Amino acid sequence: MTQRNKPKLSFIGLGYVGLTTAACFASKGFITLCYDIDQNKMEKISKGEAPFYEPGLEELLKTTISNKTLQLANNSHDAVMNSDITFITVGTPSKPDGDIDLTYVQKAAQDIGQALRKKKEWHLVVVKSTVTPTTTEELIKPILERESGKKCGEDFGLCMNPEFLREGNAVEDTLNPDRIIIGECDPKSGEELEKIYREFYGSNTPPILRTSPVNAELIKYANNAFLAMKVSFINMIANLCQKLPGADVEHVAAGIGLDKRIGPYFLKAGPGWGGSCWPKDLQALRLFFQKAGVEAPLINATLEVNEEQPQKIVMLAEEILGSLRGKRVAILGLAFKSGTDDIRGAVSLKIIKELKNRGAAMKVYDPKAMQNVRKELGDNVEYASSSKECLAEAELAIILTDWPEFNNLRPEDFRNLMNKAQVLDARRIYNISKFLSEGVRISAIGLGY
Ligand code: UGA
Repeated sequence: MTQRNKPKLSFIGLGYVGLTTAACFASKGFITLCYDIDQNKMEKISKGEAPFYEPGLEELLKTTISNKTLQLANNSHDAVMNSDITFITVGTPSKPDGDIDLTYVQKAAQDIGQALRKKKEWHLVVVKSTVTPTTTEELIKPILERESGKKCGEDFGLCMNPEFLREGNAVEDTLNPDRIIIGECDPKSGEELEKIYREFYGSNTPPILRTSPVNAELIKYANNAFLAMKVSFINMIANLCQKLPGADVEHVAAGIGLDKRIGPYFLKAGPGWGGSCWPKDLQALRLFFQKAGVEAPLINATLEVNEEQPQKIVMLAEEILGSLRGKRVAILGLAFKSGTDDIRGAVSLKIIKELKNRGAAMKVYDPKAMQNVRKELGDNVEYASSSKECLAEAELAIILTDWPEFNNLRPEDFRNLMNKAQVLDARRIYNISKFLSEGVRISAIGLGY
């Protein structure tokens, strides 16, 4: 290690995980060297601009770029040479068959290994990217050893350190995590990483669990799969509620959430879960079970409920409007969840496609995701520049993302702006009885009639 007070960190891959983690470390005085192959992204970051919308990130970048705690490296070689610890935070997307694509992780490991060959000092490599079980020890470690000509556990260290931050809450989740998981290839590697986190969090240090790399990899997948299963579970209950007069999934979720063994989180029924992580992680996990020859009925069911859920919204829209042909529908909310401009795996896209197939004419609006949606949907839909403009002359408004600004819409806005004041609340953001008593016909996910 160099003689600095704090070790220098480097990050290869500047997506939500890499950039947010680097910026948070930099904000606490750690020198972080950052590198991404995407030059546009690097240029934006160099000006203190966040390359994607993430609350609080841009402020952190502005400060840390200007006080030079966050620095951009010319390439991953320089990043490794000038730091003590390197975090691999590149993407692990899906291949067409749903399996995990480890190309970027392999490339990062190769580059790091080649740099390590020239480094005299001990260096710690930390895999933060989500990788399927055994990848760290059976794929990454051999690449690092081959490229560096050095021995893991002696000349350099290796840990698997999964990330649990949510998009839209990335900064907050990084600064206040529930726990830190360290999967260590050898005790020294684990100790060094634990030291960094204790230095970073100080008296606010969360529980730190030290384990093997394969357990750390499994924890990441099991965590996402369990949460997705919780949401699919409540969506399944919501679908039943819709058939039972007087039933309401919000009450059922509140009731079961009070049981400490279940807890109140991730029990919000909706149009189905999406995003850049769960869909790819559950597919990859399903395949991993298959390859291991182990049955995974709960993973299959979690995915199955989710594949059907957007269709349930389309069916509800049809119940309200009769035939959808030629009907004007306002879609409020396009991002896969509020707080982000990310539309990867967004159910809004599936629902819009299906409504279009059935002949509906749509105007769409999202507070942050319009630019991304335009690239995806082109002139298949009309675009509004505000939620009120989106409602104009529509016969049905469908709420697909729970953006707080949609809560500012009052029943009279729907009455005054729409051709017919009809709302399908797929995120349960409105007070149903208030809307009904003020002359808005409102249907909602998980609400029986
Ligand atoms: C998820 C995990 O929550 C993070 O812990 C993890 O680090 C991340 O994946 C990852 O693997 O990188 P994220 O995809 O950002 O985070 O979003 P979530 O907040 O988990 O939401 C996932 C989806 O479930 C969204 O479409 C959201 O709208 C939906 N959801 C979530 C519900 O429909 N109901 C809920 O109660 C909660």
